[in-house]
Amino acid sequence: MSTCPVIHGGEEVPKLDFGGTTPYEDYVHASVLHTLQKQASDDPREMSFLVITQIMELYFGLLCFEWRQAQLELRADDLRAAVRTLRRSDLHLQGLNAAWRPIARMTPGEFNSFRDALGEGSGFQSGVYRELEFLLGEKSRSMLVPHRAVPELHESLEAQLAAPSLYDDVLAALRRRGLAIPVAVLERDLTKTYEPDADVEEVWAEIYRGDDRDLLELGEALTDIAEEFARWRYDHLLATRRSMGAKVGTGGSAGVAFLEKRTRRSVFPELWTARSFV
Ligand code: HEM
Repeated sequence: MSTCPVIHGGEEVPKLDFGGTTPYEDYVHASVLHTLQKQASDDPREMSFLVITQIMELYFGLLCFEWRQAQLELRADDLRAAVRTLRRSDLHLQGLNAAWRPIARMTPGEFNSFRDALGEGSGFQSGVYRELEFLLGEKSRSMLVPHRAVPELHESLEAQLAAPSLYDDVLAALRRRGLAIPVAVLERDLTKTYEPDADVEEVWAEIYRGDDRDLLELGEALTDIAEEFARWRYDHLLATRRSMGAKVGTGGSAGVAFLEKRTRRSVFPELWTARSFV
């Protein structure tokens, strides 16, 4: 799309005349986007909740896109390109986390004013969020169950479940660079959640003790992602505590107790534990 203003009568103004829709519309599909905010209740406070949920859903998709791109760069052993992509994804995560603000402090009364209208709907049922968790190495076959009736999504999740996570591609790239990542870690059952490994921890400790800037930058970019993701989980937990206390979730879970358990996990585990040995 050209961004150059057109000169009309000596004065630079943007082009005003278009035969059909504007090139902006053709690119952004804004008119479609703005038809997607269908409230379940007539409470005006629901609109912020709905739009921010949609924004977060878009961020989940964007993060999956960026991490798949980083995987391609890692497979090509282009570490610098991968780090640049990972750093960009860290900025998206910061944007995602900033999106909590308008809805993080709803009172229980405000949330109740539209909560019943959500029925059994819950972010727990977001297929793209689950893909995001799988890409981060948190795998679980049971998370496919809600999507059984949607073959395309189910297949995509099934493929992601069996595929290497972003972290698996990082570890494979480290091994190709001669670092002592055990083959058994790379060849384990990829459909299971990644479990910390003492040898991988030692590799990260070595990287952090050493002077290879590229590897250090890779470690830090991944740690930034792990930290921002943990922040998303924690902010979600706090928003839930504030707006509904210990009630059962709309998705049927124990609510806060369920989210507390999820928040205690951390992705790329050895990047945290290796620091004790540096
Ligand atoms: C203050 C508003 C919110 C409350 C009270 C809330 C509450 C909950 C609860 C109780 C759960 C557990 C499952 C269940 O029983 O429903 C859950 C899961 C989830 N929610 Fe929210 N939520 C809120 C906002 C959001 C928003 C804006 C998003 C963005 C898409 C979101 C995404 C998720 C996801 C992805 C899960 C699954 C987490 C996991 O499996 O670890 N939530 N939420």
